[in-house]
Amino acid sequence: MKVGVIGCGTMGSGIAQVASTANCQVVLYDLSEDALVKSENSLAKVMGRLVEKGRLTDESALAIKNRITYSTALDDMKGANLVIEAIVENLEVKHKVFQSLEAIVSDECILASNTSSLSITSLAACLQKPERFIGVHFFNPAPLMKLVEIIPAVQTSAEVLQKTQETIDSWKKVTVKVKDTPGFIVNKVARPFYSEAIKMYEEGTADFATIDWAMKEIGGFRMGPFELMDFIGHDVNYVVTETVFKAFYYDGRYKPSFTQKRLSEAGYLGRKSGRGFYNYAEGAINPEPTTDPVLGDYIVDRIVAMLINEAADTLHVNIASAKDIDLAMQNGVNYPKGLLAWADEKGLPYCVSVMDELFDEYHEERYRCSPILRKLGKNNATFL
Ligand code: NAI
Repeated sequence: MKVGVIGCGTMGSGIAQVASTANCQVVLYDLSEDALVKSENSLAKVMGRLVEKGRLTDESALAIKNRITYSTALDDMKGANLVIEAIVENLEVKHKVFQSLEAIVSDECILASNTSSLSITSLAACLQKPERFIGVHFFNPAPLMKLVEIIPAVQTSAEVLQKTQETIDSWKKVTVKVKDTPGFIVNKVARPFYSEAIKMYEEGTADFATIDWAMKEIGGFRMGPFELMDFIGHDVNYVVTETVFKAFYYDGRYKPSFTQKRLSEAGYLGRKSGRGFYNYAEGAINPEPTTDPVLGDYIVDRIVAMLINEAADTLHVNIASAKDIDLAMQNGVNYPKGLLAWADEKGLPYCVSVMDELFDEYHEERYRCSPILRKLGKNNATFL
């Protein structure tokens, strides 16, 4: 199989590695010669490390490298069965690339975008054959993160959906099918992990070190919300929140926070700038958590209930199946459990009661309990 990858930045380089590891012939195209050289060098380093660790033999590392050709000529996409685009997040630029591409590849070639925030349907609309278009959303770093969200556009044919899902499954990824809606599954369902943590911090319920401690030690999450935001970068995390908020017609559930906006304005972007919520300078003193189990339980209960509610609502409006929503959160952001399975374990009436108590306290839209959670809770049913 010949796979084209457009854009050799963080994501494109990772996707090319994944496809080549799965024995595909890959053409990696970029406008920038420098970017291609950087991508090739960085793959060589990654392969070297994998050989050192004994995860790959010299021969297979060489074969993975050799199956990728680096090119600044879009014409080299000729003969590709699948082309995945991972260039700048700009609708007009992507439209231009896909229109040029359609004149080069065969009618059977599937065209896909790795976009995080643009509508797949609006991308498909620029093509002569929009039914061949689909979203394939990898997570960063693509070679390590198992999840790929597969997003058919309104125009995508059933055959293209099936073929794409089969191909990405054969690359040893966990695929989930998602309706073309803002944030797909992961970037939508994960919003409360950050926003509810920031809200508690802003209101002085607990400081960020305590919230991170509770979510890790009691909740079982790999990273606390503040550590994770510092890791992602406040500029990036804030833009995702704002994009989802606007795209959902300003639904109060996704309201961004001034605290995070100010951090990005200050250039306190997190790890990458040396300072975010935490200070990463050598010898810097960071706050110690208050390890109060009662407070810790309250924090975890509240954030997890909000996450469960968001997952339930995603199911309620048929964005994805219950099984796929759980798979997505476990494989896309490494949650310790699927959220709907977690809801079943806690008992749905209990989850409803946490949401209702928050709504009684705040009377804010963000705390409205999803109808499906309330309905199943009333019948003592479960999600899975
Ligand atoms: P990046 O900035 O690392 O790389 C983009 C590459 O595209 C650069 O090498 C640039 O030279 C090239 N490029 C720009 N315009 C081009 C054009 N017209 N033709 C050919 N090449 C062009 O970007 P990154 O982070 O890899 O993101 C790419 C896409 O993947 C975006 O759509 C983004 O939303 C999506 N994405 C990003 C994730 C991330 O964590 N960075 C995660 C999942 C999706």
